[in-house]
Amino acid sequence: MQFNLNHVTFSYRLGSRKILDDVSLKIKKGEFVFLLGKNGSGKSTFLKHLNAMLIPTSGEIYVDGKDTKLEKNIYKIRKTVGMILQNPESQIVNSIVEEDVAFGLENIAEDPKIIQKRVDSALQAIGMQTYKKRMINELSGGQRQKIVIAGVLAMQPDCILLDEPTSMLDTKSRSEILRIIYDLNKKLGITVVWITHNLEEVQCGHRILLMKEGKIALDTTPSELFYNDEILSKFDLKRTELVEFVCNLKKKGLKIKDTTNKEAVIDFIFNQLRKN
Ligand SMILES: Nc1ncnc2c1ncn2[C@@H]1O[C@H](COP(=O)(O)OP(=O)(O)OP(=O)(O)O)[C@@H](O)[C@H]1O
Ligand SMILES: [Mg+2]
Repeated sequence: MQFNLNHVTFSYRLGSRKILDDVSLKIKKGEFVFLLGKNGSGKSTFLKHLNAMLIPTSGEIYVDGKDTKLEKNIYKIRKTVGMILQNPESQIVNSIVEEDVAFGLENIAEDPKIIQKRVDSALQAIGMQTYKKRMINELSGGQRQKIVIAGVLAMQPDCILLDEPTSMLDTKSRSEILRIIYDLNKKLGITVVWITHNLEEVQCGHRILLMKEGKIALDTTPSELFYNDEILSKFDLKRTELVEFVCNLKKKGLKIKDTTNKEAVIDFIFNQLRKN
C-alpha cells in the first residue's frame, strides 16, 4: 500500500489555523515509518488523513492511487488501512477475546468459516491463541492492546497506522508490541506508520518523519538522525542508549558502522571477540 500526499493542508474549521500546512510526501509499500513531533504538532491529524478519517482542506492524498476525497474510495481505504490508538479500551467492543477479534469481519458480513480462520491466524500472529475464549476484562493492558492488533490483522490490512499504541504500557508489553509490528512489516510487507514519543522505538524503523507546526520538518533514517548531534540538538532529541554505546566503541577506536540495529551491534562484538 502506498501513499502519495500532494500539498496537503488541513484546518478543523473553515478559515481557522492550518493544522497540516502544505505537506507533500510519498510513503512506499512495505515502508516502516515513525512519526515524531511535539504535542499539538499535528501528528494524529496527519495519521487520520492516511485512512480517510479526515480529508484535506486543500491538496490531495492518493492511497494506492485512490483519491481519499472521493466518496466511492473511502470504504475500501478504511477497510485496508487499519488504525490502532493509544488506549485499547476505546477499540474493544466485545467481552470475549475471539468475539472482539471477529468484530470487524462480522461487521462486513464475512462468511463465518472465513471469520473463524482469520481470527485464529490473527491470534496466532500475536501469540495469544490460548486466550481465545477468555474474558477481555481479565487481561492486562498490554494483552488488550494485542487483541486490538489481532482485530486489525483479521481484516488483512495492507497498512497499519498506530497512534502512540504503547504509551500506556509497561516496558515489557512495549517491546512485545514493537516486535509484533516489526515482524508483520518484515514478513508480510505490511506498511506501517507509527506515532511515538519514544526514541528507543523509532530505532527499528526504515524512516523517521518529524512534524513541527503542521509541516514535515525532517524526513530521514534512524542512523542518519541518531549519529548527527547537530540535528539531534536542533530538534531537541537525544541519542538512544544503543547509539551512545556504539559512539563509545568508536571513541575507543573500533571500526563499527553507524547503526541503530541491536543485532548488528551484537554481531560486531562477537566478531571482535572471535578475532582476539
Ligand atoms: N477535532 C478537533 N477540532 C479542533 N481542533 C483540533 C481537533 N483535534 C485536534 N485539534 C487541534 O489540532 C492541533 C494538532 O492536534 P493533533 O492531535 O493532530 O496533534 P498531535 O501532534 O497528535 O499531538 P499529541 O502529541 O498531543 O497527540 C492541536 O492544536 C489540537 O488542539
Ligand atoms: Mg496525537
